[in-house]
Amino acid sequence: MISDSSEPTLIGKQIVLGVTGSIAAYKAVALLRTLLREGAVVHVVMTQSATKFVTPLTFEVLSGHPVSTDVFESHQEMKHLSLPAQADAIVIAPATANCLAKAALGLGDDLLSTMLLTAQCPLIMVPAMDGGMWIHPSVREHVGTLRARGTIVVDPEIGPLASGQIGQGRLAEERKILESVLAALAPQRDWQGQRVLISAGPTQEPIDPVRFISNRSSGKMGYAIAEAAQARGAQVVLVTGPTTLPTPRGVEVVSVVTAEEMLKALTARLAWSTTVIMTAAVADFRPAHPASQKIKKQGRITQTLDLEQTTDILASLSAQRTTQLMVGFAAETNDLIAHAKDKLKAKGLDLIVANDVTIEGAGFGRDQNVAVLIDRQGGMTELPLMPKRALADAILNRAHALLHTRQTTQAPKPVAGGR
Ligand code: CTP
Repeated sequence: MISDSSEPTLIGKQIVLGVTGSIAAYKAVALLRTLLREGAVVHVVMTQSATKFVTPLTFEVLSGHPVSTDVFESHQEMKHLSLPAQADAIVIAPATANCLAKAALGLGDDLLSTMLLTAQCPLIMVPAMDGGMWIHPSVREHVGTLRARGTIVVDPEIGPLASGQIGQGRLAEERKILESVLAALAPQRDWQGQRVLISAGPTQEPIDPVRFISNRSSGKMGYAIAEAAQARGAQVVLVTGPTTLPTPRGVEVVSVVTAEEMLKALTARLAWSTTVIMTAAVADFRPAHPASQKIKKQGRITQTLDLEQTTDILASLSAQRTTQLMVGFAAETNDLIAHAKDKLKAKGLDLIVANDVTIEGAGFGRDQNVAVLIDRQGGMTELPLMPKRALADAILNRAHALLHTRQTTQAPKPVAGGR
């Protein structure tokens, strides 16, 4: 419920307000003012037909941001990707029957509908149409599809319609729309009762007391998942290689340095966990005979390092698991999907997060990442470039859905000979 106090309820929230071509488009102006009054930052996206009812200038002046109508309007910025990536919620009010149909079918023939294909945040659709349209079987079907997918559809109200008839088709009251937005933004606690074991960061494999072999991992992805899982109600243990990141609130952190230490720390906690998410960039090789004294450079110019392979921690955990859901990462520079699928199978995983570490602005050390989620049933979701925290939530959404389907299926084991 919305409180009657004057405390704004949407401070710091970014909302995309989609307006489509219905006579109720004028009511979106009042809705925009309410969202702004509640403290939200609002970007308005209009369809071409919406601009026949209200001018973009009205929304532009009130929102303080340019109104987007066209997917091709800017060469600099891909609005269908950037707007939903930053949004905490998308509200489409009014949503026409056409808009509902396009969203349900996954059609993307304008900026608003294309945006919905990339959005990961909650979507609230507030239909407005003639009563006869609202009860048409195809509209009923599309609303059913959208609701099954998690879209919040706020039922229209009964009353006099633009046609002069009385029916169910009037845009829902503003108070109801606002309540739906607040409910969608309330912190999810869907991981409550789950115990999540996460690995993060690089490992360091000593050559001698002052030198080591390591990699470019910053640990940001694993820390973001730990933070998100904790916020969603899970108990979280984060086993981390050396990083400079602050400890996420409410998360138990176990610091390790080498692959061997990480293996031990994770193995010891496997039985406790219900889900394992392995984001760590574990060194695949370590010096076979680390020197106990600093190796002096004099006379050593031709010395070669003897390396031995480390244990594949994920495959090892997977082989020992009982009911845990196993999630791995695949950091690739080429043949992303094929390599990720091979790792999914070889390591006996339920889900793999494939990321191409060569993509500009994504991957090691960055705050953003781009990934493809592949599950063992072959389900594949391509996600756009997004902040690591948003990707963390997308991974947890997928893993959460798998946890539920797992209850009825058998956990896989790594294939023999898999790494
Ligand atoms: N992993 C692991 N132990 C290792 C190496 C990797 O647990 N010794 C885990 C990683 O944390 C990741 C997954 O396995 O979740 C895949 O890691 P990646 O580095 O992409 O692949 P590798 O298995 O090391 O194979 P390659 O280096 O040949 O790509």
